[in-house]
Order: sequence, then structure tokens, then C-alpha cells
Amino acid sequence: MAEVVVVGSFNVDHVWRCPQLPEPGETRGGDYSTGPGGKGFNQATAAARAGAKTTFFCALGADTGAQLARTLAAADGIALHDQCSDAPTGTAGIFVDAQGRNSIVMGAGANATLSPGFVGGQRAIADAQVLLAQLESPLDAIACALTLARAAGAVAILNPAPADARTTPGLLALADILTPNESEFVALLARHLDTQLGAAAVTGLDDANLHALARRLFSHGTLVLTLGAGGIFVSHAASNRRGDAADCYRLAAEPAQVVDTTGAGDACNGALAASLVDRPDAPFAEHLRFANRYAALSTERAGAAIAMPRLAEVVARFGA
Ligand code: RIB
Repeated sequence: MAEVVVVGSFNVDHVWRCPQLPEPGETRGGDYSTGPGGKGFNQATAAARAGAKTTFFCALGADTGAQLARTLAAADGIALHDQCSDAPTGTAGIFVDAQGRNSIVMGAGANATLSPGFVGGQRAIADAQVLLAQLESPLDAIACALTLARAAGAVAILNPAPADARTTPGLLALADILTPNESEFVALLARHLDTQLGAAAVTGLDDANLHALARRLFSHGTLVLTLGAGGIFVSHAASNRRGDAADCYRLAAEPAQVVDTTGAGDACNGALAASLVDRPDAPFAEHLRFANRYAALSTERAGAAIAMPRLAEVVARFGA
């Protein structure tokens, strides 16, 4: 039985490290590297390295990028099943500055061809304990995965990344847990509540106001708002606090020697999924504490999927 099922994107990341991110019209030199990425694959790698039996569904081209995906998935024990596409495997161009901040442009390629027909035919989705999806794939395919998993009793997590202007209330309603970062939360507030706030304004809100917004946006489920150096804010529906004592609370960011924040959100999501599978009866705050630590450690290494730590490394650094 699959424990964590991830449905989403695989990209070949092309990364340039430079002291400062380039301004529009500016040319800068940087150190180039390439490696595996895509929010889906990063999350699957995090879930697997955090200890969960993991299955990953994606769309790949017929090219060297696809071979890379299959080789790396096998190395991490991830059961990868791909819809073969005429389009090239997805790519991303990533700039990383000296503080580890990034700017990303994604070329969806094959990811844009992932279909509900392919996803809907996958029995493993109905066997999932936790289903994890993002928004780098067509929304109808993502909706299909969330629907199937939920109907079979899995916990459905939607990481609404990247911010997407096409999300609908119906899509959000299919998730049990929604995990935006601050810019994705801002985009969701604008689209679904017609509330215009900047990321800085969100960061400055107190818990009561954040909780009120989270409840209006995602009334039926748990919203996990990742705030980078600001830590994580959690807002539960009063009807299901997932074992926590409070409706809302914050976790401080774990200390880290940040090298590269690319994929930190993916690390958090994958680790959260793995922890929910590992100890389904533990309070949600304990799962988040693990995910928070896992994500912090991932930022101390360069790269996306390759930066995901193994469970033993997290334990060695932070304790059990
Ligand atoms: O979240 C990081 C990921 O976003 C990168 O690996 C890149 O491929 C883009 O999908």
C-alpha cells in the first residue's frame, strides 16, 4: 500500500548562483549547476527521505530529463509512474542570491499534459494515507487526484504553489489541509475573498486577524501558512483541530545556516505528509514541528530535490 502519494511536477532545474538577483535589463554572471526539481518531485523526495513509502505520479517527455527523474526516483525508493508526453520534460530557470533567496521561471513542458484520465486510472491513489498535490500541473488533474484520495479516506493536502489565478472554491473544497506561503496566501485572498493585502501586510497581522482570514478562505479545513523566517502559522476549523489544543498558533522558524531556500516549502510539505503517515494519532503541532525542522535543514544545502535531508540527519540535528 502506498502511504504518501504525490501528484505533480518534475522539472530539470537550471540554477545560477549570483551575489544579487538580476534587475530587469541587467546582465549578471553566476555559477551554474543543474539538478532535479519540480514541486511535485521535491515533495515526493522529501516524503521518501523522511521515511514514508512514496508514490509519485507525473508527466514526462521522452528525453534525458525523464531518464533523470526515473533514475533519481529509483535511488530514493520512490515508485514513479509517468504519463508519457510529446512535450519535453519540464524545466525551471532559477537564480539564487547570496542570502539563499531565489527567483524561478518554470517551463511547464510535459507537466502541462498531465491529464485527469491518467490520474483517475491510478489505483494507488485510492490506497494513499496522505495525498499531496501542488499547482504546477493542470488543475483538472489535481482535482481528480484530491477527489479520489479523499473518497478513499486519505488526508488530502493541497500546496497552492505557485500562486495560480485559476483556483476555484471547488478546488479548495477538495483539500483537508491547505499550505500556502505568504505570497500564495495573498493571491488566494485576492481571488477568493476580494481582499487586497501585500505580503508584508500579511506578515504583520496578529494571530486573531490571520485566523479570521484563514477561516473565511478555508472554513472547513486546516490552513498552514509558511512565513519563511517568520515561521509557520496554523489555523484549524473549530470542528477539527487535528489533536491540537488551540484553534490557531505559531511555530518559530528553526535556526539554520541558509545556503539556498529553493524547495524549502516542498521540504515542509513532504515532511508533513510523511509525519502524518508515521504517527496519524499525534497532535498536528508535532507533525509541523518535524516539518519545520526538516525544511530548515533543507535550506542549508544547495539545490531542490537533492537538498532534502534524510530522517536520520534531522534526528541527529534536532533530536527525535
Ligand atoms: O519549489 C521549488 C521548485 O519550483 C523548483 O525545483 C523548480 O523546479 C520549481 O518547480
